[in-house]
Amino acid sequence: MSQNVRVDAAQCTGCGRCLEICPMRIFQPGGQGSVPAIGPNAEKCIACGHCVAACPGGAITASGIGAASLQKADISLLPTYDQFAALVAQRRSIRKFKSQPIPQEKIDRLIDLLRIAPTAKNLLPLQWTVVNNPESTHRLAGIIVDGIRSRDDAKPIIDAWEQGYDWVLRGAPCLIFAHTDETSNWTAFDSSIAVEIADLAAPLLGLGACWAGYFISAAGVNPILRSALSLGAADRIGAALMLGIPDDETYLRVPYRPEPAVRYLEP
Ligand SMILES: Cc1cc2nc3c(=O)[nH]c(=O)nc-3n(C[C@H](O)[C@H](O)[C@H](O)COP(=O)(O)O)c2cc1C
Repeated sequence: MSQNVRVDAAQCTGCGRCLEICPMRIFQPGGQGSVPAIGPNAEKCIACGHCVAACPGGAITASGIGAASLQKADISLLPTYDQFAALVAQRRSIRKFKSQPIPQEKIDRLIDLLRIAPTAKNLLPLQWTVVNNPESTHRLAGIIVDGIRSRDDAKPIIDAWEQGYDWVLRGAPCLIFAHTDETSNWTAFDSSIAVEIADLAAPLLGLGACWAGYFISAAGVNPILRSALSLGAADRIGAALMLGIPDDETYLRVPYRPEPAVRYLEP
C-alpha cells in the first residue's frame, strides 16, 4: 500500500521521531540536511498515520491528510486505570431489553467510535450491518431457531421459542455485526476487537449489549439467514452484538471469576 507520504522541509524540526515511529521504516535519515527522506520501503506503508500523528512540527502529510485535519490527543480526557477497571468489571451481558429500536444517534456514535479500533496491518477491512428493528431481529431469531430444530442439543432453545422466549437474540431490538470480504485473513480478530469496544462503550450510552454467539455461528452456515441478511458467498461474519435499552436489568455486584491461569516463562 503506497501512501504518498510527504515531509514539508519548512516545518520539519529534524527530530527524527518519524524514523523511530514508523513500523514499516519508510523514513530514512536526512536527504537534505536533517529532513528525512522517504526510502524504498514507502511501498510497504500501511497508512497507520502514526508519522502524521507524532510529528512535532506537523510536517508530514500522508495521502493528503496532514496534522491540521487530525483530532488532537488530550490525555486529560483519559479515564484513570481504576475508572477503566470499573468499566471492565461492571460491564455485563444484558439480556432484557425494552422493545423499541435504539436511537439512531447512539448507533452513529458507536459505529463512529469503531473506526479507530485496531485492525491487522491497519487494513481496515470491516463493514457493518445494523438491524435496528425489533420485528426484524425477531424474524432473524426465528430463522436461526428453524435452522437448529433437528439438533438434540438445541431442544431448550426450541422449547423456549415455542413458549415465546427468544433465547437466540434475547428479544434485542437491535443487532449489529461486523463482516469482511473473503480476502481478509483476520476477520474474527478484527471484528471481535471492534465489537468488544462497542460492548464496553454501550453502557456509557445508556445501552445494554450482549455478544450474539448463536447468531455468529448460524450466519456462517445457514443459507436462509445469509439470504435474509443479503450476504454474498464472499462475505465473512466476524462478530455480532445485540443492543437495546436495558429493561430493568441491573447488577448490584460484580460476579466472581476465578484467578486466571498465568505462566511466567524464564529462559
Ligand atoms: C464470543 C461470545 C459469544 C457469546 N454469545 C452469547 C449468546 O449468543 N447469547 C448470550 O446470551 N450470551 C452470549 N455471550 C455472553 C456470555 O455468555 C457472557 O459474556 C458470559 O456469561 C459472562 O457474563 P458477562 O458478559 O456478564 O461478564 C457471548 C459471549 C462471547 C464472548
